[in-house]
Amino acid sequence: MLARVTQSRTIHWLGRQLSNQDNPASWLDPLMARINPMWVQAYTPARVEQAIQDTDDTRTFVLRPARRWTGFRAGQHVNICIEIDGVRRKRTFSLSSSPRLWEAQGLVSLTIKRLPGGLVTNWLHDQLEPGQVIGLGEAFGEFLIPEPAQPVLFIAGGSGITPVLSHLETMVTQDYPAPVTLLYFVRTHRDVIAGEKLRALAYRHPVLTVRVIATNESEEPRFLNGEDLDEIPDLKNREAYLCGPKGLMDLARDLLHQRGVTDDRIHSTFFAPPAPTRLEITEPGGQVTFAKSDVQVGPEGDTNLLEIAEAAGLSPQYGCRMGICHQCSCRKTRGTVINRLTGQVSGPGEESVQLCISVPQGPVTLDV
Ligand code: FES
Repeated sequence: MLARVTQSRTIHWLGRQLSNQDNPASWLDPLMARINPMWVQAYTPARVEQAIQDTDDTRTFVLRPARRWTGFRAGQHVNICIEIDGVRRKRTFSLSSSPRLWEAQGLVSLTIKRLPGGLVTNWLHDQLEPGQVIGLGEAFGEFLIPEPAQPVLFIAGGSGITPVLSHLETMVTQDYPAPVTLLYFVRTHRDVIAGEKLRALAYRHPVLTVRVIATNESEEPRFLNGEDLDEIPDLKNREAYLCGPKGLMDLARDLLHQRGVTDDRIHSTFFAPPAPTRLEITEPGGQVTFAKSDVQVGPEGDTNLLEIAEAAGLSPQYGCRMGICHQCSCRKTRGTVINRLTGQVSGPGEESVQLCISVPQGPVTLDV
């Protein structure tokens, strides 16, 4: 039985290599990586220029991507690709530098917090040093400042500050003409990321107000509250940007709603996989048919389609694994899936689904 499974996986692997025949990068890259990693074609190589320890558990990596990388807008994310013990790993992070730095000096930065037990973040902290090369995907994401300029409120928690840093630096460089307020929640003042930079930006740009609030420095935890928001001039007409733990974002959204800020003015982005919505169905799961690969897998409970595919020896595309980047999107030709984040149930017919956040409800057929 084991031999049959192994044989079938080998055939799928071979099939994938053969289907890549049109793509010379897939054959040449291993060779290129040995000669000069900056020549690799499958992703944009980015050399680490600097690694800066921001706080006990946060480092900023300054990278120089190969010039073919197409750049980004403030607030966007990128996927990075690294190899750990011979296995390629991809993760999504926000860019913390401003696009101006890329345009002027060809540099970008990622500010990354070490996650307890996190394979990739721990590797980045412990192993990634100046001179090494990692892979960089193209930038994506809609956490963008609207044009023309309007008053803005940022509410950030912990390492959720990273896309906000990119925004603030960009706004100050462009002499943003409307008021901007940042409420930045950290556990203690030791955990403030880029404190000096934030102070310097506020000093340079009088319409920028930065307030750092420590949640765990008094006996009772100090969370965001109504008074914090009531102190912000003209709150109702601000565009609000939320990035941080889900609890902070939910609370912020509620308090903003109570003060008349409508949903179309509230923008949010996750910096870590949000806690999945509890599925209200008695028995999630169902047989999954990966039609192109000719593989069928029996019911796997509430496991998402990406993990089901990987467990079956397939390698569909993915990036963030948390529903942001859409790199795992593929065609469902039949069956119903549930969105793990929202609890929304799909139709039964043909449509695009994100594998990493979709759980089958009954038999499902995919173009994978
Ligand atoms: S891997 Fe990014 S949305 Fe699924």
